Amino acid sequence: MFYVLPNPHAIAEYLSNLLVQKIQENPKLVLGLATGSTMEPIYAAFVVQAKQLGLNLNDIVTFNLDEYIGLAPEHPQSYHHYMQTHLFKPAGIRQEQVSLPSGMCRDVELECVNYSKKIQAAGGLDFQLLGIGTNGHIGFNEPGTPFSSLTHVVDLSENTRRDNGRFFEDKSQVPTQAITMGIEDIMSAKEVVLVATGSHKAEVMAKLFETAIDEDMPASIIKSHDNFKIIVDQAAAELLPAQAEQTRIAC
Ligand code: GLP
Repeated sequence: MFYVLPNPHAIAEYLSNLLVQKIQENPKLVLGLATGSTMEPIYAAFVVQAKQLGLNLNDIVTFNLDEYIGLAPEHPQSYHHYMQTHLFKPAGIRQEQVSLPSGMCRDVELECVNYSKKIQAAGGLDFQLLGIGTNGHIGFNEPGTPFSSLTHVVDLSENTRRDNGRFFEDKSQVPTQAITMGIEDIMSAKEVVLVATGSHKAEVMAKLFETAIDEDMPASIIKSHDNFKIIVDQAAAELLPAQAEQTRIAC
């Protein structure tokens, strides 16, 4: 189902409320987390709301989708650093509650196997938050990734390196590889929510709307999930056909 909200602020409020509600219902929630600029207002709103409510976050467990290979946790563009900055530190979520793939491990293949196992050992993901790349990637699962994939090493596409180059001094500094949770790991979550904001996501959202389930459009798999939502703002909904408009929700 596609839901259209007016702007990133409204999406942040909506998702912050949803996350708070999930954690209140289940203080031991196993939460799959994403990075990227789409998530920043969502985490900011959640931190404020969690503080206002005195929400108990001590027992949640989190797993991030991905990490660049070759970036140390303290590197400003690593996803470890992103998560500490935008969510973990401000919300007071402790190191022992969180997991991200290590981009600095010696044996990446072993790291991948262990990461999927760790998710399963935690009882699986209760809720997975996703962004989307302009080529339809989720996590770092690039077009063509088998839907049966578990955590694995990815050669990042030129498209993804170009898009993500905006966070680095220049594109040549964008790592060429990453570790990502696989599509099967993502789909095994009990609930999946994909978020897209901004007009630069309008084309990929229209493509996602039109595409049947297809490995060339990795995000399309979530349309086969029993409990999924695709949430876009007006700008990202610009090119959606009329029938998607019917799913607009008030906020
Ligand atoms: C990166 C991340 C994805 C994220 C995507 C979109 O490639 N690996 O998980 O969805 O960026 O990022 P943004 O929200 O900045 O557009």
